[in-house]
Amino acid sequence: MSQRIAVIPGDGIGTEVISATRTVLDAVCRRHAITLDYDEYDWSCERYLRTGAMMPADGLDVLRPYDAILLGAVGAPGVPDHVSLWGLLIPIRRAFRQYVNLRPVRVFDGVDSPVRGALPGEVDFVVVRENVEGEYSEIGGRLGRGHPEEMAVQEAVFTRAGVSRIADYAFELARTRRGHVTSATKSNGIVHTMPFWDEVVAERAAAFPDVRWRSEHIDALAAKFVLQPGSFDVVVASNLFGDILSDLAAAVAGSIGIAPSANLDPTRSYPSMFEPVHGSAPDIAGKGVANPLGAVWSAALMLDHLGHTPAAQDLVAAMEATLREPGTRTRDLGGTADTRTVTVALLDRLGPVS
Ligand code: NAD
Ligand code: IPM
Ligand code: MN
Repeated sequence: MSQRIAVIPGDGIGTEVISATRTVLDAVCRRHAITLDYDEYDWSCERYLRTGAMMPADGLDVLRPYDAILLGAVGAPGVPDHVSLWGLLIPIRRAFRQYVNLRPVRVFDGVDSPVRGALPGEVDFVVVRENVEGEYSEIGGRLGRGHPEEMAVQEAVFTRAGVSRIADYAFELARTRRGHVTSATKSNGIVHTMPFWDEVVAERAAAFPDVRWRSEHIDALAAKFVLQPGSFDVVVASNLFGDILSDLAAAVAGSIGIAPSANLDPTRSYPSMFEPVHGSAPDIAGKGVANPLGAVWSAALMLDHLGHTPAAQDLVAAMEATLREPGTRTRDLGGTADTRTVTVALLDRLGPVS
């Protein structure tokens, strides 16, 4: 049985890391006798500049029948970010109820964390980011453009159903790991939504008596990510808090270039989407030096989601092997390898079809 994947390379290094990932995916799938059928879509800022839209009007209908979506990144100089993001990325996350953004964090063997004491094997946690509501709401806007009284307002929207389901996901995930959840909050100040978040998380926690949990204020939590990154197992956070924490966590783990993400609809009513945490990196785009591992690890999350766990494990093992070798680390990790060198190393490691 074959599964269908919609591929959206996007812009900048998105196209480079997705091309590398496709090559590696083909190799791992051949070895495991997995058939994935890909359709590639050129939905991007380049398409926007050509046609006035990031994706066609029926783009979401086009994607709906797929088993998964693999995305590079969108965003290009000359196109405002709100156009590229609200025109493609955010509608996909929302239309397909991808309410979990799962972002694993590991310090790999061979990778130097900029954080003292963050050693391989000791830092291994997952950020579970709420992905469809919270601070990223569509309610609000700019008022009085150009006037001295001009303002921008945006309502943060937290629903009981939305907070409950992300908390449940985090507690269930912790059960399969080391049994600990940290909930990111800001309930000590004047943010009205966070005491509500806390209340709902505490209610859900009661249903998981076997999982230990604690709440941490986001400011102190950010500091703790740097000071004690080995103390976390599952970190559950709202949309904006989770966004910031996941880039911070990626930096602690050595580079944003290796950080993966899975935008999941756990009910499996819609396709889930897999993409690196990083963006289109215009500063290095076109140079062939982007680290492809964030996209490759995201593809491993996709294989796992599609039921191909041994293949996903092979891909992660290949990543581990390339990271252990100084000659196959990219510049963001202090090495000199380019995207192609890492891709070839991954293929070598995966070995021939048996
Ligand atoms: P970015 O992640 O693109 O880049 C941040 C820094 O990290 C840059 O110095 C970049 O060179 C480096 N970097 C990122 N990925 C790397 C990789 N794989 N290998 C080596 N170095 C890497 O973030 P930004 O600069 O804030 O955003 C650039 C554009 O990307 C913007 O238009 C933004 O809106 C967009 N963006 C898109 C997504 C997405 O589509 N999911 C995510 C984040 C940012
Ligand atoms: C991410 C990105 C996006 C987000 C942006 C580009 C809208 O930073 O996937 O982390 O904030 O969700
Ligand atoms: Mn982000």
